[in-house]
Amino acid sequence: MSKSLFPETRMRRNRSDKFIRNLVRENVVSVDDVIYPVFILPGKNNSEDISSMPGIQRLSVDLILPILEDLHKKGLNAIAIFPVVDSSEKSEGAEEAYNSNGLVQETIKIIKKEIPELGIISDVALDPYTTSGQDGIIDKNGNVLNDETIQVLAKQALSHAESGADIVAPSDMMDGRILKIRETLESNDFTNTKILSYAAKYASNLYGPFRDAVNSTNSLKGASKDTYQMDFANTEEARNEVELDVEEGADIVMVKPGLHYLDVISKIKNKFNIPVFAYHVSGEYSMIKAAANSGYLDEKKVVLETMTCFKRSGANAVLTYFAKDIINWIG
Ligand code: PBG
Repeated sequence: MSKSLFPETRMRRNRSDKFIRNLVRENVVSVDDVIYPVFILPGKNNSEDISSMPGIQRLSVDLILPILEDLHKKGLNAIAIFPVVDSSEKSEGAEEAYNSNGLVQETIKIIKKEIPELGIISDVALDPYTTSGQDGIIDKNGNVLNDETIQVLAKQALSHAESGADIVAPSDMMDGRILKIRETLESNDFTNTKILSYAAKYASNLYGPFRDAVNSTNSLKGASKDTYQMDFANTEEARNEVELDVEEGADIVMVKPGLHYLDVISKIKNKFNIPVFAYHVSGEYSMIKAAANSGYLDEKKVVLETMTCFKRSGANAVLTYFAKDIINWIG
C-alpha cells in the first residue's frame, strides 16, 4: 500500500492539540526509569559539596537515609553506591575493597536494614581503593593486570552480596570478570544476586566530576584508562563486549556514558534480548547544571527531555544524578 501524499497526509494533524499529542506519544518517563547514584562519606553527620557537581553532595549514611526514605516513598526503586575512601585506606593491592566492615559494606547493611525494599546496586571496581586510582592492580610499569584484578573483584563482589547488595555492578572493564563473579556468587549460594555489567564503558572525557567526587583524580596523576575502557570511536566492539558478558552471565548490561552514546544503546537493544541500562554520567550532569545555573537552559525541561530520549533509544533505566529532582517533579 502506498502512502497517500499531501494534502491527504498532513503530519501536523496529530500534533494539533495537546490531547492528541498525549495519545500518540511513544515514550514516557516514569519514576520506574531512574536510579540514583550516591556518594558516601564515612562517619556521622558529614556532608561535603562537590564543586564540579553543583547540587550534589557527598554524605555520611545517617544523612543520606532520610533522603532515600523520602524518595523511596515517592517511588525510587534503586540506588547505586559510590564510596569516598580516605587516602589512608588506599593501597596497591586494594585490600579495603573487600573488607567486610568497609564503608560500602557497612552502608549497604544499614540501608538494607532501614529500607529493605530499596534496591541496592554496588560498584565493583578498585579505583576508589588503589593508590594509582586505576580500576585494577598495576605492575611496576603501571600496567593494569587483568587476571590478578578479577580475583580481587570477585572478592569485592562477594563481600557486597554478603552485606545485602541486590545487584553487583562491575564497572572496571577487565576481561572475564563477569564469569569469575558469577561463579563466585553461585558457589556461595547468592543465586539471586544480579550482575549489572558495565559492558560498554567508554574511555570518556565526561567522568571528570565523578573522579573529583570520589577523590581519584589526584591518584590518577593524569594517567588514562585507555587500556581497558573502550575507544569512543567504536560500536561493533560494544556489541562484542555485550555478547561476551551475556555469555558469561550478566543479567543486565550498561552503556556508559549516556546521551552521546544513544546509538550504542539502540544497537545493543536491537541485537540482544537483555535489559540495557544507561549511565547519564557526571560530566553530562554538570553540563546541564552549569547551563541551567547560568540561565541558558530550563533545567527541568531539558532533564525530562533527556530522560525521554534515553527511553526512545531503548534504555530500560537510567542512572542519573538528577534522579532526586526527577522523582520530585514527576513522582
Ligand atoms: C570507575 C567509575 C567511573 C564512573 C563510575 N565508576 C569513572 C571512571 O571510569 O574513571 C564515572 C561515573 C560518572 O562520571 O558519573 N569505576
